[in-house]
Amino acid sequence: MSYRVQPSGFATKSIHSGQSPEQWKSAAVIPPISLSTTFKQDAPGEHRGYEYSRSGNPTRNVLETCFAALDNAKYGLTFSSGLGATTAVLTMLSSGDHIIMGDDVYGGTNRLIRQVATRLGISASFVDPTNLDLIKSSIKPETKLVWIESPTNPLVKVADIEAIAQLVHGVREDLILAVDNTFLTSYFQRPLELGADLVCYSLTKYMNGHTDVVMGGITMNSEKLYNSLKFLQNAVGIVPSPFDCYQVNRSLKTLSLRMEQHQKNALKIAKYLEAHSFVEKVLHPSLPSHPQHKIALKQTYGYSGVFSFYIKGELKHSSAFLKALKVFTLAESLGGYESLAELPSIMTHASVPAEDRKTLGITDGLVRLSVGLEDAEDLIKDLEQALEIASKA
Ligand SMILES: Cc1ncc(COP(=O)(O)O)c(C=O)c1O
Repeated sequence: MSYRVQPSGFATKSIHSGQSPEQWKSAAVIPPISLSTTFKQDAPGEHRGYEYSRSGNPTRNVLETCFAALDNAKYGLTFSSGLGATTAVLTMLSSGDHIIMGDDVYGGTNRLIRQVATRLGISASFVDPTNLDLIKSSIKPETKLVWIESPTNPLVKVADIEAIAQLVHGVREDLILAVDNTFLTSYFQRPLELGADLVCYSLTKYMNGHTDVVMGGITMNSEKLYNSLKFLQNAVGIVPSPFDCYQVNRSLKTLSLRMEQHQKNALKIAKYLEAHSFVEKVLHPSLPSHPQHKIALKQTYGYSGVFSFYIKGELKHSSAFLKALKVFTLAESLGGYESLAELPSIMTHASVPAEDRKTLGITDGLVRLSVGLEDAEDLIKDLEQALEIASKA
């Protein structure tokens, strides 16, 4: 098994990009939290780069510079949440436009499209992102955006981003391909390098990694897209707070270390589960049994700590398993230093229509794990005792 080789420089960028002490009069090594909502002007309309904190803030600027550097992007913007970032992308569209969405996206993204975007006159087709023919045949003259997650949530399907980018841009140069990169982060996957136009994140997850900030972000190279999204960030008002920007900027300093350890722990656990008699199937791209294992190796630098598996039995077994866990916490979300487990059919993906959940395979036996940074041996012991209890439920 060998993923793409990570070029050196990532950790250095995460620590130094945008952080120069020279930008502050005090030469502070750690960027100050700039809480002021407004900034003095030298004459009407003459300001020193900042006017009002919604349109621009020094602490946010530090974070956005560092965040963009990690994707080797020209531009980075942050938003009040991951869904706030998605909202910014959607508000670039107009009534009558059409979007193609991966059929296995985060439940909240699915709900935003089905219950909000469609009400505003934007139509959507949900397609399997691993099926290129289906993506191609779903593109209409009014299609403006193709939005995929890779890997998908919660079924961990891996889409071939480079092939989709070639397909989409082959149909129309200005057709926008957005990739939600929340599961892998800039450390393990950089979709702009594969031809995507926008890379969207719930920074709430691994990029912050400490389960104490809700934030979203988008990176891009196109000046045109940057200008539209920067305008919308201010015009729609979906900005993060300076304090949260400080926290995420700080968290990025340890992103590479955290991701390496998430990867090691999760792979040990995936292998353990794959060999367990009460486990039906494990969905983890690093395992040769994963249907898109080869695509994962080709396009990513490694894999994170979030993956899913099917436990044997029915709801009473998965429920007994989740209730019996002691080190894993039964909770939504992912990407923090602490291990979490959840049941997508009832928790994160409850808003996906039941019929679609059935077709996709989001059954009551599908458990999603977010493997944290505890000792892998303790996590395995915890899973062992919970599987034992589940098998007797
Ligand atoms: C893959 C993915 N994208 C987007 C989001 C939405 O992010 P947020 O909760 O920060 O709004 C989530 C949240 O779980 C997610 O898992």
